[in-house]
Amino acid sequence: MSLQEEIKRLTAPDIRARKGKEPIVCLTSYHAHTARILDQHCDVILVGDSLGMVMHGLETTVPVTLDMMILQGRAVMRGSRRALVVVDMPFGSYEASKEQAFASAVRVMKETQCGAIKIEGGRRMAETIAFLVERGVPVMAHVGLTPQSINTIGSFRAQGREPADWGPIEADAKAVTEAGAFSVVIEAVAEPLARRMTETIAIPTIGIGASPACDGQVLVLEDMLGLSPRVPRFVKRYADLGPSIGAAVKAYADEVRRREFPGSANVYPMKAKSG
Ligand code: KIV
Repeated sequence: MSLQEEIKRLTAPDIRARKGKEPIVCLTSYHAHTARILDQHCDVILVGDSLGMVMHGLETTVPVTLDMMILQGRAVMRGSRRALVVVDMPFGSYEASKEQAFASAVRVMKETQCGAIKIEGGRRMAETIAFLVERGVPVMAHVGLTPQSINTIGSFRAQGREPADWGPIEADAKAVTEAGAFSVVIEAVAEPLARRMTETIAIPTIGIGASPACDGQVLVLEDMLGLSPRVPRFVKRYADLGPSIGAAVKAYADEVRRREFPGSANVYPMKAKSG
């Protein structure tokens, strides 16, 4: 049996079945090499449209295109074997109609071979989610702070700050559950609300800035590695790679300038060609 056959990739139903069990570990990745590392530790790898801000230095995720998501989704699929890969649907690729959403999702799934897609929105996307799921597209939903709505909500601030504002967010989580989503990202909501939603809906909640009360957690990889210039306040940095990369680049630049750069055939012998 080959190694490829031994490793079974997690599926959307596998993640759905984790409700109330072992917490779900999720991080974002946009590249084959980081996906390879994440694959050893994560249940879900999210190819988030945050790639627009993280990789491309955009101010928001709004300009991200379907082609950008597909290109990076393919890279992440190439780099991973075990994790469920979920690809974000970018702004403008799914909101116009359920038919538009299906056509975009089919492109993403055929061209990347990912296991699921993610879309932002609660009650307003419920009909679309049901349409996609009925036609074979597993959907991760995303409620609370939905960054693609930045131009109507005005800022990336926490949602449901007052108990009086919780009702619509809870109704969103309930609607996506009833529509057939296999899990839901809950972004930037207070702990008591995240806890209530996690306790009342039947699908796993995956929190980002939504407290440990959720069934799983997701972070943007570059944020937790200390590579992003600005990060939300709730992000814990597990490494500080920015200064390490700066120091490595400086060491290299200094060696090149002193003509001490060691990269020659003597240092890195090439493999002899056979025959
Ligand atoms: O785009 C993204 O990375 C996301 C996560 C922050 C949940 O949607």
